[in-house]
Amino acid sequence: MAFRVFLLGFLLTSGAAPVGLKDVQRAKTKKPGADYRGHSQVAMSKKLNDHLIRAESSSSRTLPCEKWSLSELQSFMAMVAEHRSHELQLIYKSTMDRRSIRSESLPEFRSQWQRFNQLVNKHPHLHAPQKEAHCREAVMWWVHHLAEEKRQELRSRPNFSVPLLPEGAKKPCGQLNSDGGVAIDNGMLAESASDAEELCAKVNEANSCDWCHSTQADHDKGVPGTSVPDGLKKFTGPDDGNPQGWNRTRRCDQDQMPRCQLCEGIGGMAYGDPNDDIIITPCEIVANASEVDPKTVAKPLYPKQFTIKRKDGKQGGYSDTLIGWKTDPFCFGFFPQNDSTKPMCYRSEDAFIKYYDIEREAQRADYTIHNGGLFAAFPNITSSILHVQDQMWIQNDLWGVKQCICSNPSGNHCTNPPCKAYVQHWDTFASAQHLGRERIGVEWIQDHGVGHSAKIMELDHFILWAHHVWTDPISKRLVRAWKPFNGLQLYDPEAWEDQVEDPSVFDSPPEMCKKGHRSVRIHCDDDGNYHPKKSANTHILDALFRRAMEGGPEGIFEFASQLWETASVVV
Ligand SMILES: *[C@@H]1O[C@H](CO)[C@@H](O)[C@H](O)[C@H]1NC(C)=O
Ligand SMILES: *[C@@H]1O[C@H](CO)[C@@H](O)[C@H](O)[C@H]1NC(C)=O
Ligand SMILES: *[C@@H]1O[C@H](CO)[C@@H](O)[C@H](O)[C@H]1NC(C)=O
Ligand SMILES: *[C@@H]1O[C@H](CO)[C@@H](O)[C@H](O)[C@H]1NC(C)=O
Ligand SMILES: *[C@@H]1O[C@H](CO)[C@@H](O)[C@H](O)[C@H]1NC(C)=O
Repeated sequence: MAFRVFLLGFLLTSGAAPVGLKDVQRAKTKKPGADYRGHSQVAMSKKLNDHLIRAESSSSRTLPCEKWSLSELQSFMAMVAEHRSHELQLIYKSTMDRRSIRSESLPEFRSQWQRFNQLVNKHPHLHAPQKEAHCREAVMWWVHHLAEEKRQELRSRPNFSVPLLPEGAKKPCGQLNSDGGVAIDNGMLAESASDAEELCAKVNEANSCDWCHSTQADHDKGVPGTSVPDGLKKFTGPDDGNPQGWNRTRRCDQDQMPRCQLCEGIGGMAYGDPNDDIIITPCEIVANASEVDPKTVAKPLYPKQFTIKRKDGKQGGYSDTLIGWKTDPFCFGFFPQNDSTKPMCYRSEDAFIKYYDIEREAQRADYTIHNGGLFAAFPNITSSILHVQDQMWIQNDLWGVKQCICSNPSGNHCTNPPCKAYVQHWDTFASAQHLGRERIGVEWIQDHGVGHSAKIMELDHFILWAHHVWTDPISKRLVRAWKPFNGLQLYDPEAWEDQVEDPSVFDSPPEMCKKGHRSVRIHCDDDGNYHPKKSANTHILDALFRRAMEGGPEGIFEFASQLWETASVVV
């Protein structure tokens, strides 16, 4: 927050190109107003065109996309690029906004356009999708990268016009398509197919404002262009710009260049944001994907129903490090989020048991948490995390004080909040790319440690965007998963059972989260459902932490057990 305020102050006083307050406000607003969204790609483009035509009518003309040639569109973009506001770009860049222009210099754009023009000349069926992508990009630059004052100045040039967005359904790019002329045909040379792929990656990227400018319902229906595309068609990852500056061993995303290799993006036990605050797991390449006999490779799929529990009853059949945005200084409550743009919390924990059932849209893990930092000297606490449908309940036992946190795990990362997030699909990683086989350390399982004390296994390494997953060719089980800003997960291959014996483990809302059970309830209503504004008995928790900070671990259980005897408790 302090940074934002500072940034705004800086922008308003740095005089070079005058950006109006309105320009800045719009640049900082991520979600387009309802007026600027449509229920489909076509409706959305029409709506935005209406706005453009109205905005330009007094001083300049608008011309439909098809009236422009590629070189005219490129001249238009070059003109905008020469006058674009560096302040606006700075706002987009600092907030990882998709409107940010990726390349900095006009000469870079010119040489890219030149290469694209050659490709289009060679493959005329790419002409139409390329022109449409140019129109979208040109409109985006005109609307979002110029100060209003600059737009006025350009409009007054003789014979000035602004392109409109294409209004038809989006032309497919680079897809095999039996009836249309726009697809890459089968007979294409390998070299030109990769050319076309490069061009299409660019075309898809310019189109990517549809990811936000369309509605959630369209996304759910699978309307083209409203979902995130295949990572290998992109080459500008990591998506959030890797603001923590992690190296390729700690983070390597599928959409970044050069493409991730074996023993890259493997991670380890992370405990802080700086790149070196991690114990990287040891890794040795065994064979690349084409050298491995595919019959021996287990796909990284979860069973549709499972229980993970050590046969000897000890804890640790499943262990993880949870990573998510820091929301309180002690990292008591935090969730994995969709990027790494904020300071993060890291918490390593072992579970006695983990359950999953996709038919019930449910998952639960019961952990023992070894306190770190300020509370390192205190007895362990237990925590059970239950996720059913779109709700999550975190039930903690804090030295005798029962606490329930009701929550919406989506983090509201969607186009049209309120958003919903369900447990991961059993086949989430069905389309993951197999990189090959490695000899790699698996943390914690079967009484092992981390780093060089990890259990060394020969596993198959898969990658999907920022996710990395490993399967065991012997047990055919998913063993290890790593996502640099969400966490590390380890499954003992001997601890799996493909069923949940007693489905009542998923009963929800849990009793402890409802009124009347001597519990501290955070964001829960009386029935134990998530309610962002309702909490009860938080003073009990305050008293417990105050006592813990002042008096240390000695006698903490006795203190906790007396807390409920006071009169002001709501239960
Ligand atoms: C005005 O612009 C149109 C379209 O860009 C072009 O065809 C025409 O030649 C231009 N006229 C002048 C006088 O530049
Ligand atoms: C990346 O950083 C980690 C943590 O310091 C280090 O162990 C690893 O060797 C580094 N990787 C490369 C390729 O430098
Ligand atoms: C895999 O390894 C073989 C043999 O070393 C090599 O010829 C091939 O190019 C490699 N493939 C990839 C994708 O690296
Ligand atoms: C916490 O749990 C671990 C493992 O179960 C155990 O080794 C450790 O002694 C416990 N610590 C405390 C303070 O109870
Ligand atoms: C994460 O979600 C937020 C919306 O909550 C969005 O603004 C941001 O761009 C997303 N990050 C990435 C890397 O997509």
